[in-house]
Amino acid sequence: MIAFSKKDFGSGFRWGVATAAYQIEGAVNEDGRSPSIWDTFSHTPGKIKTGENGDVACDFYHRYREDIAFIREMNMQVNRFSLAWPRILPEGIGPVNLKGLDYYHRVIDRTLELGLEPWVTLYHWDLPQVLEDKGGWTNRDILGWFAEYVEVCSKAFGDKVKHWMVLNEPTVFTVLGYMQGTHAPGRKGFGNFLPAIHHAAMAQAEGGRILRAHVPGAQIGTTFSASYVQPAGPTWLSRIAAANYDVIANRLFIEPALGLGYPWKTMPFLRLLQRHIRPGDMEKLAFDFDFIGLQTYFRQLVRFDLFTPGTFGQEIPHAERGSSELTEMGWEVWPENIYLLLKQFSAYKGVKRIIITENGAAFPDTPEGERVHDPKRIKYIQDHLAQVLRARREGVPVEGYFYWSLMDNFEWAEGYKPRFGLVYVDYPTQKRILKDSGRWFKEFLSD
Ligand code: NOJ
Repeated sequence: MIAFSKKDFGSGFRWGVATAAYQIEGAVNEDGRSPSIWDTFSHTPGKIKTGENGDVACDFYHRYREDIAFIREMNMQVNRFSLAWPRILPEGIGPVNLKGLDYYHRVIDRTLELGLEPWVTLYHWDLPQVLEDKGGWTNRDILGWFAEYVEVCSKAFGDKVKHWMVLNEPTVFTVLGYMQGTHAPGRKGFGNFLPAIHHAAMAQAEGGRILRAHVPGAQIGTTFSASYVQPAGPTWLSRIAAANYDVIANRLFIEPALGLGYPWKTMPFLRLLQRHIRPGDMEKLAFDFDFIGLQTYFRQLVRFDLFTPGTFGQEIPHAERGSSELTEMGWEVWPENIYLLLKQFSAYKGVKRIIITENGAAFPDTPEGERVHDPKRIKYIQDHLAQVLRARREGVPVEGYFYWSLMDNFEWAEGYKPRFGLVYVDYPTQKRILKDSGRWFKEFLSD
């Protein structure tokens, strides 16, 4: 039994699910799509733990009609999905691929036909490879490339789509893609990371301005990965390490958007960004977003480590925290994280509304006949919703919860093994089964 109902969240609260193009669509060579950095990366031996790729994925490209219907069946209102830049502008810039636009029109129309709201992410990590060949996010020219892409999308879909998110988790794609090299495009080091940060932060705000100019009545947001950071011990050094971690995990991209600049007072290392900042840039980093999307899965527990440049901190491994539950990703389950983050982000003056644009968990689900029993996921969702409600009752303007993900999908460098979905996907047959967690949502959200 849970101690709350849908009504406690209020009638304006939005319920939905999230997906991303490369993780579900497949059809990578169809209708004029060009390769993205994730095609290249996943086809490079050793990059994906399971050796898999997104060539077929969930075949959502051909099955979107039935897949979107699951969202309706669960009594949700929002379909959050992303547009693939290489389907729309196969050369990155220049000629528009009408077949690409047409596909997304069909996805949007199906969403609307079922009475759902389309919430569109413009960039969920699948940069056209042709642009990476010119330096990708490290090349300042990306500001012009991205602006062109955003303009094409806002003009094409602005009549139908009123909820937009510019970037998906810029911290993650810059840290993993351009610093650690564990995500596409697999580049490493501060020489790549620092320019990528500045260009992504500039693109985030500029994308907002372009949407504002072309989409009347748009609700414009962008999404941030977030993890509540705690020092592992009481020492001063441990607190410094945690403060640096907090900068990277939570502050790096929101503060410039709010007009607060980069948080280099806390983390002086970030002053190296100045090399990439041109006169006039600092003002252009700000944009008045209508909402921010928070995406969170775990907290970070940090100890001091002299040998880690930049943060001077190391995370305590999740398995060593004494938590009663780890997910298939090896992530500790600690629901208060979402409450603490909602408090932290709502404390910024410029934050008007917060939507949880992602939260969820992977567990090793196995079908039993026509059912998938996933009690751990149900409990995870309930415990997190209780914390969202707690924040809301304390006045935090959190106005939506989107579960990650609608269906099991390609979990980037982890391959297909971690299953996050409310819908089970049997990859060899592409058969779908609504998991018990999906049935739980259906019941919870019924009037
Ligand atoms: C964040 C990303 O936006 C999404 O693509 C990913 O699959 C989930 N978190 C789970 O790791």
